[in-house]
Amino acid sequence: MGRLKGKTAIITGGAQGIGRAYCLRFAEEGAAVAVVDLREDQAKDVAKEITDKGGRAIALNTDITSEEDCAQMAATTLSEFGSIDTLINNAALYYDQDILDQTIEYLRKTLEINLIGQLICARAVLPAMKKQKSGSIINIASTAAYPLPLPSMPFETFATNAYGLSKSGMIYMTKMMARQAGQDGIRVNAIAPGVTMSEATKKIVPQFALDGLKQGSPLGTTLEPEDLTGTAVYLACEDSRLMTGQTLVVDAGVWLNG
Ligand SMILES: NC(=O)c1ccc[n+]([C@@H]2O[C@H](COP(=O)([O-])OP(=O)(O)OC[C@H]3O[C@@H](n4cnc5c(N)ncnc54)[C@H](O)[C@@H]3O)[C@@H](O)[C@H]2O)c1
Repeated sequence: MGRLKGKTAIITGGAQGIGRAYCLRFAEEGAAVAVVDLREDQAKDVAKEITDKGGRAIALNTDITSEEDCAQMAATTLSEFGSIDTLINNAALYYDQDILDQTIEYLRKTLEINLIGQLICARAVLPAMKKQKSGSIINIASTAAYPLPLPSMPFETFATNAYGLSKSGMIYMTKMMARQAGQDGIRVNAIAPGVTMSEATKKIVPQFALDGLKQGSPLGTTLEPEDLTGTAVYLACEDSRLMTGQTLVVDAGVWLNG
């Protein structure tokens, strides 16, 4: 513990699930955390959980698809904490989706939040990181970006495809951003989690699919949100200082053969 002492992090989608786990772990490691989400009350609860334990945290009600909101998010974090060392681009449309939605409107909404929203967040923090000549942006992709070499699963729908498309775009964006931001000492990497038992997963992934994934894992398991936090700490801290443009798959080995 203490690997992020004196550092600051903006964590989007921090109100619940995997984002909440990142917030709590970053605080345990000594970082000051901006918990960013549309779910304002839940974000406040996460920030309070951190400050009650003696950590530093603020909750920000930010829509990541709004340039104005994201500029405010960066400005408030800077004025409260003095720097922006890490952005975890974690917020996404996932929990709130209607899995049977077949419309182009749905695709637009998914790309708007999961891809353009992430880009807006990154653009909002880049000026501060450039000034600092340092920073780590961690984009949260998904193994949904890599289709399994299997026949279509019964629960795969247009909505699932829209989600996968947004996440594969995120991996491309990670490479391009890494190339462009490197000259200013800024690193950009991604994590592609496998199926993780967050509130969202419990709501939308059917049990038979979870059982299938467990069987497909050499480690015989799906993930809990906390299983992803060590990888994020690694990408935020000096241990990964010469790593950029990479996507780390953390999925208990399910996509091993993909
Ligand atoms: N749970 C999984 O199995 C899994 C697997 C791979 C990748 N992921 C990715 O991990 C991340 C977190 O997933 P989760 O399971 O915790 O999902 P989740 O739905 O529980 O959390 C996402 C959070 O993002 C917030 N959010 C959505 N739109 C927003 C917006 N426009 N502005 C601000 N906040 C917004 C939501 O309010 C929510 O709190 C997502 O990027 C997801 O795609 C999840």
